[in-house]
Parts: sequence; structure tokens; C-alpha cells
Amino acid sequence: MTQPGRLIGLGVGPGDPELITVKALRLLRESPVVAYFVAKGKKGNAFGIIEAHLQGAQSLMPLVYPVTTEVLPAPLSYEQVISDFYDQAAEDVAQHLQAGRDVAVICEGDPFFYGSYMYLHDRLAHQFEAEVVPGVCSMLGGASVLGVPLVYRNQSLSVLSGVLPHDELKRRLADADAAVIMKLGRNFHKVREVLTELGLADRALYVERATMSNQKVVPFNEVDPMSSPYFSLIIVPGERWQG
Ligand SMILES: C[S@@+](CC[C@H](N)C(=O)[O-])C[C@H]1O[C@@H](n2cnc3c(N)ncnc32)[C@H](O)[C@@H]1O
Repeated sequence: MTQPGRLIGLGVGPGDPELITVKALRLLRESPVVAYFVAKGKKGNAFGIIEAHLQGAQSLMPLVYPVTTEVLPAPLSYEQVISDFYDQAAEDVAQHLQAGRDVAVICEGDPFFYGSYMYLHDRLAHQFEAEVVPGVCSMLGGASVLGVPLVYRNQSLSVLSGVLPHDELKRRLADADAAVIMKLGRNFHKVREVLTELGLADRALYVERATMSNQKVVPFNEVDPMSSPYFSLIIVPGERWQG
């Protein structure tokens, strides 16, 4: 009987190809199949990070999202469409695993930190051997390029999604020593409103595509909300402690 392949969730770091770990690079090169989630018509960030490391004989397996927006006309529901898509992607990956081929699913940053790999992991890890290789996540890449310590001494860090409703985001931010706000994009305007209401706008720092060759660090108050892209985040660093 064929020995099944391994499912590998491979964190490839936030953008700079040198921020991939030695282990991730080894497993990437050894995997006969390299899968990655990608929007229709796009190359994909994770793929862009590892492209130069691929060996000729590897099969590429793009898993193309069927929708790019969470707002769909009735009777379609985003949750249902995306859940069906993950079911199908898991079946397609499982075929390779059953045939004895390892599948490396590359993820920007870390696979278990808002990474779509987790939806394959949840569906397949009870059935196949699975290994997850952690990656440098975007908030740490962001802090590095902004040159700002995130948390001093006994402070706690809150990681918040920009998708949260205004009042909920405000409540959580008001309680935070330090915070990272992810998933900006069309949420940018609301997030800026909340930071301004809390008097945090001057302390907040903004970065787009941190550690990538086209990264952009803009003073928070000068960010154009119309162009704020999805691959951006805001850091509200902890109050400096002199040490
Ligand atoms: C689906 S999550 C993926 C997070 C990723 N797995 C990680 O470990 O950072 C996408 C969000 O991560 C953030 N992000 C990912 N890469 C980024 C980068 N290089 N610079 C700034 N933000 C980034 C953005 O907030 C984006 O909306």
C-alpha cells in the first residue's frame, strides 16, 4: 500500500524572501506539490515570496478563491461559498496525499495566524500526518521595519481585526496597553475614527507590505484612506519604559 503524503503548513514570512526559515526552505524544496491560496487573476503574495526557491520538477497547485468580496447578492452567502471552496480544496489536496505525495501549503507570515492553511488543516489533519512550520508573522515584520518595540516589561499586546464594529474596536483598544490592528483595507476609515476618538492617532504607526520590496511606511495621519490596501497594519506601541 502507498504510504500517504504529509500535509505541510509552511509559513514563509511577511515578505522579504530572506525571512523564510531554514526549515521552511528545506521542506519547500523537498515537497513535490506546492499549494497556495490566491485571488483570481493574482499571483499571490506567498507565491511571490518563494518563487525564486522553486525547483523545476515541483507541481504548483493554486487554490483560487471563488470570490474576493464578503458582500454577495442574495441568495448567495459568503460563508457558504467560501466553506464549499475549502471543502473542494481539501479534497483536491487529499488526492495528492493519498497518492503518497507531500503537499506544502505556503502561507505568508505564519500559517496559524489568520492563515487560510488552517481551513485545510482543520479538514485534513485528523486523516493525514500534518506538520506546521511557523513563520515570522506580519505584525513582527511590521514592528521591525517601523523600528518600534511593541511591548515593554509587563505590558500586554492586543491583536485586533479591523473588521470589528466601531464600538467593539473602541472598547478593546481603550483597554489595551499596546495593539496591532490587522485587516485594514476598506476598514481603514472606521479604524482611523476610533483611534482619533481615543486620542491615539498620534501614537499609531502604519505600514503597507512590510518587509516587501515595495513596502510603504507612511505617517498615520497622512495615509490616504482611499488607497489603504489589504496588506497593511497599524501598530499602537506600548508606552516606552526607560529600563
Ligand atoms: C489573512 S491575514 C494573514 C496574516 C499572516 N498569516 C501573518 O502571519 O501575518 C492578512 C492580513 O495580514 C496583514 N499583513 C500580512 N502581511 C503583511 C505585510 N507584509 N505588511 C503589512 N500587513 C500584512 C494585513 O493586515 C492583512 O490584512
